Amino acid sequence: VTPAPSLEFVVLTLFPELFTSFVKTSLMARALRHGKLSFEAVQIRDFATDKHNTVDDTPYGGGAGMVLRPDVLHSAWRSVDDAELRGEGGQLTVYLSPQGRLLDAPLARRLAQIPRLILVCGHYEGVDERFVDECVDLEVSIGDYVLTGGELPAQVLMDAVSRWVPGVVGKEKSVSEDSFEGGLLKYPQYTRPREFNGLEIPPVLLGGNHAHIAAWRQAEREKRTRLRRPDLWERYGRRK
Ligand SMILES: C[S@@+](CC[C@H](N)C(=O)[O-])C[C@H]1O[C@@H](n2cnc3c(N)ncnc32)[C@H](O)[C@@H]1O
Repeated sequence: VTPAPSLEFVVLTLFPELFTSFVKTSLMARALRHGKLSFEAVQIRDFATDKHNTVDDTPYGGGAGMVLRPDVLHSAWRSVDDAELRGEGGQLTVYLSPQGRLLDAPLARRLAQIPRLILVCGHYEGVDERFVDECVDLEVSIGDYVLTGGELPAQVLMDAVSRWVPGVVGKEKSVSEDSFEGGLLKYPQYTRPREFNGLEIPPVLLGGNHAHIAAWRQAEREKRTRLRRPDLWERYGRRK
């Protein structure tokens, strides 16, 4: 799986300000500065056509809440859609939705191969299904619970995907040793001080024998995965 050398995120949202501190902090800010990532937030409301800047309306058939209008969303999407890139498979439109495919490490890694991701954040009761039919390539959920909007899920997706772009996380090895890589959770980690609240660190980590350390870490990864995530452990067993 080859990640794209840099990634472009375009977010359609009613609340661009929710992304401000996220893109100004830590690895995300550095990656943007170094051109590994680019980010643009598009205000959906700018594409409303009436004098009240209406973006939503009541659901046909009745029911609680408001639904985002397909025409307004479609105009916002059209303003950023790159049809040529889309045709070549270089752009994907993702709607963050509790009804989507669950985001996991393999999906994050696959999305990192696509140079341009348009992320659509719903709000209120969600979006008109016709917008999904017309413009959305993939619906992605970040878990089996319902949030008020797609902005936090979009940030979760951006973070998980960006880690795979070369140079975003300092040492590439640290990504490939993270939890879920190779089907296992990560081993326990320790740093200074050597003794904390009467607790020592495992002696093998002090010995300097790299083969022993690697064997200990692998055994810990397996033990953790077996105890904490029987689902992953079973899949790991099947892969071997
Ligand atoms: C209140 S939710 C709408 C839920 C919708 N009525 C349903 O029951 O499927 C509003 C927006 O939050 C976002 N959202 C909520 N939960 C999410 C999740 N688990 N994963 C991704 N996006 C989510 C979506 O963009 C959604 O349009």
